[in-house]
Amino acid sequence: MRGLSSLLSTALATASFAQLCLAQTAGTYTDPGTGIKFDTWTVATSSSKGGMTIGLSLPGDALTTDATEFIGLLTCSTPSAAGQGWCGISMAGPMTNSLLLMAWPSGDKVLTAFRWATGYDAPGAYQGNTKLTQISSTINSTHYSMLFRCENCLAWTEGSTVHKTTSSSGVLVLGWTQSTTSPLNGQCAADLSVAVQHDNGEGIFGAQLNAFGVNAQYGTWAALATKTVTGDCGGSTTTTTTSIPTSTATVVPQPVPKTTFDYIVVGGGAGGIPLADKLSEAGKSVLLIEKGPPSSGRWEGTMKPGGLMART
Ligand code: HEM
Repeated sequence: MRGLSSLLSTALATASFAQLCLAQTAGTYTDPGTGIKFDTWTVATSSSKGGMTIGLSLPGDALTTDATEFIGLLTCSTPSAAGQGWCGISMAGPMTNSLLLMAWPSGDKVLTAFRWATGYDAPGAYQGNTKLTQISSTINSTHYSMLFRCENCLAWTEGSTVHKTTSSSGVLVLGWTQSTTSPLNGQCAADLSVAVQHDNGEGIFGAQLNAFGVNAQYGTWAALATKTVTGDCGGSTTTTTTSIPTSTATVVPQPVPKTTFDYIVVGGGAGGIPLADKLSEAGKSVLLIEKGPPSSGRWEGTMKPGGLMART
């Protein structure tokens, strides 16, 4: 934890010095807690309030054989308020048609989600072969940091297509972005919704690899990544999906509550939902009964009242 903080100070000092020359300053970093060695790239504070650092540690043969995974270091800023915002990396550079990794602070944890965008609008959930496990994370009043292993993040699938990057060329093209606004439903990674475009900068850069971040100890370090951090999902089974629900969607019926209500509204359509909402806003107790399939969250509308008991 202390190591990540001291990296941040060093990185920001370096960024201030070099900000007139480059948006991304290359450097190296050894994590004192684990000994993991990273090549790093720091986004200057002139390009993104508070700065941002991306670090990569690669398998020992990565400069001759294309790596499929890496150990990552991500340090992002929270310039609007402590614990607010999100940041992201594009594994191929652009926002579209590339594996996107988002990270954001939630309570005392840093949560992550993979996304996929075909256009410059809200990306949906990525459905592929990648896996992220954390080694450690830290959050302070100005930044959040995470050490993590990203499996298949340099060779990912999208449908039947395999997208490969080429660490053997000595350069990876990466994209970065930061936002000062927290994502919606960010307490549970599976419920995440990114409704608003990043407002704290974005860009593409060539990450020139050097021997410092390529190590034979990679396997030992990768084994330290044991934590799957999903956030506080409250036992909810809600997931964000891009598929349209079919009549075979599984719905577990819930018994009708035995308590009494001022109003019972039958049907949660375009009329029933606003009616039930207005009645409850007026202080009435309302039972809204809907027989349709569960919402697919297709347009990422996963917000719901805390008192929602059944969707049958
Ligand atoms: C509501 C969500 C989002 C919207 C509306 C959005 C929109 C845009 C737009 C319009 C650009 C072009 C630059 C500009 O005109 O400002 C852009 C660039 C970029 N975005 Fe997003 N974005 C969203 C989410 C994300 C996420 C979640 C990531 C990564 C985790 C991401 C990564 C990038 C990157 C790396 C660029 C720069 C490279 C490029 O132009 O393709 N974006 N985005």
